Amino acid sequence: MDALAVDGITKTYRGDLSKGAREVLRGVSFFAGEGEILGFLGSNGAGKTTTIKIVLGLVRPDSGGVSIFGRKAGSRGALARIGYLPENPWFFPHLSLGEFLDYCGRMSGLTGKILSSRCEEVMPLVGLERSSRQKLKSFSKGMLQRAGLAQAILHDPDLLILDEPFSGLDPLGRKMVRDILLDLKRKGKTIFFSSHILPDMESLCDRACIIRGGVVVRSVSLDDIFRIGEGKVEITARGCGAAEIKALDDYIDSAGMKGDEAFITVKKQEYVRTVVRHLYNKGAEILRIVNQHRTLEDIFIGEIAGAPAQAKNGADRPEKEPLCGSGAKEAGI
Ligand SMILES: Nc1ncnc2c1ncn2[C@@H]1O[C@H](COP(=O)(O)OP(=O)(O)O)[C@@H](O)[C@H]1O
Ligand SMILES: [Mg+2]
Repeated sequence: MDALAVDGITKTYRGDLSKGAREVLRGVSFFAGEGEILGFLGSNGAGKTTTIKIVLGLVRPDSGGVSIFGRKAGSRGALARIGYLPENPWFFPHLSLGEFLDYCGRMSGLTGKILSSRCEEVMPLVGLERSSRQKLKSFSKGMLQRAGLAQAILHDPDLLILDEPFSGLDPLGRKMVRDILLDLKRKGKTIFFSSHILPDMESLCDRACIIRGGVVVRSVSLDDIFRIGEGKVEITARGCGAAEIKALDDYIDSAGMKGDEAFITVKKQEYVRTVVRHLYNKGAEILRIVNQHRTLEDIFIGEIAGAPAQAKNGADRPEKEPLCGSGAKEAGI
C-alpha cells in the first residue's frame, strides 16, 4: 500500500468580491511509496502548499481524493500517522524547547513516561539535546527549523510532510536537516517535502514530482536521471594535436583546447572506448572521463520553460488504484 496517494485533486479559491475565483489545482495526481522520499518541486505559486494542506485535511478539495496508508485525508487514522512541518512555523517564544515539545506531544495524545522519553529521544536526533531549557525566542532560524522537525517526529509518525523545510537555512543548516531526513528514511519513514532548492532535492529524493500552474507536469526517478550512459561523456586528454582529434569527427560532438589539455565530448557512451583507444595510441595521456548526466535542474527548467502546463495523463504510474474518501467517489473512481 502507498503511504500517500493523491488522485486528481482540484481546487479553486472562490475569493471575495474584489478578487475573482482562482483555479489553483487542476487535477493533481501522484503517490509516495512506503519508505520513499518524494520531493514536490515547483515555483512560487505553483500549488505546493495548497496540495499539502489538502493532504493534511486542512483544506477540502473540490474534487479528487487523497489517501494516507489507505485512510481518508483528515481522518483520525490518517492524522495519527502524519508528522507535519508547515512552511512558516510559528513558535511560542516564551517556551523552552522542552516545554514546547511537551505541549506538542500532549496534543498528539502522548502522556507520562512515554511523552518524556520521546522528548528525550528526539532532541538528540535533531541535534538539540543541549537546548532543552533554552527559550525558543533565543533560537536561530536553523535551530527553530530543527525544533519544528522535532515536533513533527515526536509521536513517531510513518509519513512526514514538510513544506519547504530548507527555506531560509544556511548551508550548514541545510546539511543538518538533510542528514536528519536521511536518518529518518533509514528508519523506514516516508517523507514528502516541497522545495524549490534543486540541489537539496537531488541529494535527498528517490523521486521528484514537478508541479506547474496547478498541474503535475513530470514525475522523475532520480536514479533515472543519474543513470550512467544516459548523458554524454567528456574526455580530457593531454598531448594530442588537432589532427588526432579531427580523425575522431564521427564519434565526437565537440572538442576544445585549454593550454595543452583537450576537452572532447563523445556522442555516445559506446564510442568512449574507440575514442580513448585512438588517443592513447597516438600517445595522448587520458586525464579524466566524466559522464555528463542530466540534472534535476535541466528537467525542471525544461518543464518550467516549456509549453503551458497540461495535466499528465493520470497519475505518475500506469494503473489507477482505488482510493478511499468522498473526493475519490466524486471523481468517479
Ligand atoms: N487561501 C487562499 N485564497 C486565495 N488564493 C490562495 C489561497 N492560498 C493560496 N492561494 C493562491 O494559490 C496559488 C498557489 O499557492 P500555494 O499553494 O501557496 O503555492 P506554492 O506553495 O507552490 O507557492 C497562489 O497563486 C496563491 O496566491
Ligand atoms: Mg508554499
